[in-house]
Amino acid sequence: MYEASSARYEGMKYNRTGRSGLLLPAVSLGLWHNFGGIDVFENGRAMIRRAFDLGITHFDLANNYGPPAGSAEETFGQILKKDLQPYRDELIISTKAGYHMWPGPYGEWGSKKNLVSSLDQSLKRMGLEYVDIFYHHRPDPNTPLEETMAALDLIVRQGKALYVGISNYSAEQTREAAQILRRLGTPCLIHQPNYSMLSRWIEDGLQDVLAEEGIGSIVFSPLYKGILTDRYLNGITPDSRAAGPSVFLSEKEITEEVLDKVRRLNELAAARGQKMSQLALSWVLRGGKVTSALIGASKVSQIEDAVAAVHAPELTAEELEQIEAILRG
Ligand SMILES: NC(=O)c1ccc[n+]([C@@H]2O[C@H](COP(=O)([O-])OP(=O)(O)OC[C@H]3O[C@@H](n4cnc5c(N)ncnc54)[C@H](OP(=O)(O)O)[C@@H]3O)[C@@H](O)[C@H]2O)c1
Repeated sequence: MYEASSARYEGMKYNRTGRSGLLLPAVSLGLWHNFGGIDVFENGRAMIRRAFDLGITHFDLANNYGPPAGSAEETFGQILKKDLQPYRDELIISTKAGYHMWPGPYGEWGSKKNLVSSLDQSLKRMGLEYVDIFYHHRPDPNTPLEETMAALDLIVRQGKALYVGISNYSAEQTREAAQILRRLGTPCLIHQPNYSMLSRWIEDGLQDVLAEEGIGSIVFSPLYKGILTDRYLNGITPDSRAAGPSVFLSEKEITEEVLDKVRRLNELAAARGQKMSQLALSWVLRGGKVTSALIGASKVSQIEDAVAAVHAPELTAEELEQIEAILRG
């Protein structure tokens, strides 16, 4: 029988999500990789338990996470049943719909039919009555935004989600979506974009829109899929994501140019008493603009590393300048 650590709220920081009542942990755990049907169940279970013991209250899923698609939700459902059910009211569980999930015209994108059907499937796979946050996963150029936002509003009114969010929407699309949702009476809680030292597009307009509209942000791939860690500094090991079947990271991305930057950043991290991965998290969380850094992990120790970064000293102006210089190359 799992019993959560009684010290679980002592080492985490919780940030307010935009202008809402919801607090999210500074570090959240995503289940895209390493929780699928092809992965070792007990490893995923150990990571979730350790994460919760360290104050990570938020677990992020999507209909298509696996592989196979849907299996990460099934794994999470089993872990909930075995370990976390007594703690349901201490958990923020999210899922999403929008990417390809089932054959035919209703298995992807942004129609009301896709969103409502997909969430029903997700709830079944996880054994839940509701999720805490439901996202539209990517903008749909062919469905009127009013329809997609009306679907999110409906889902909240049906009690199948408490809050709604959007992911991968541009600054302009976000502004429009936020206005429609506000008119409908279901505010947009949160945006989930990618953001890291190696991918900074949200600084170019989206962060301003989020601040103006009172929307929180949970940034995915803050470690740039593992590149902003010490993982690849001495070559590509067989247990790494780059060596595996992930479509999201290939060996080709790990160039000498990128590694040279990571080596220099790693030295700066060491001078602060941090690991490379911890510096990458301190950087996305700097200045309080980001609500939560959404990490992935393949091992319990990676979750421990991430949580230890939460109380690191803020980056100084000088350190930030040094980072800019390294990133410029
Ligand atoms: N909304 C969207 O469209 C979208 C898209 C992508 C992701 N996401 C969400 O974001 C989550 C995180 O994405 P991500 O996994 O790409 O994030 P990430 O945190 O940038 O990368 C995680 C990977 O970095 C490596 N790592 C983590 N900690 C480490 C450490 N301390 N030392 C060395 N290596 C370390 C591990 O790779 P190894 O496996 O090599 O150990 C781990 O799997 C996903 O699970 C999902 O929930 C959302």
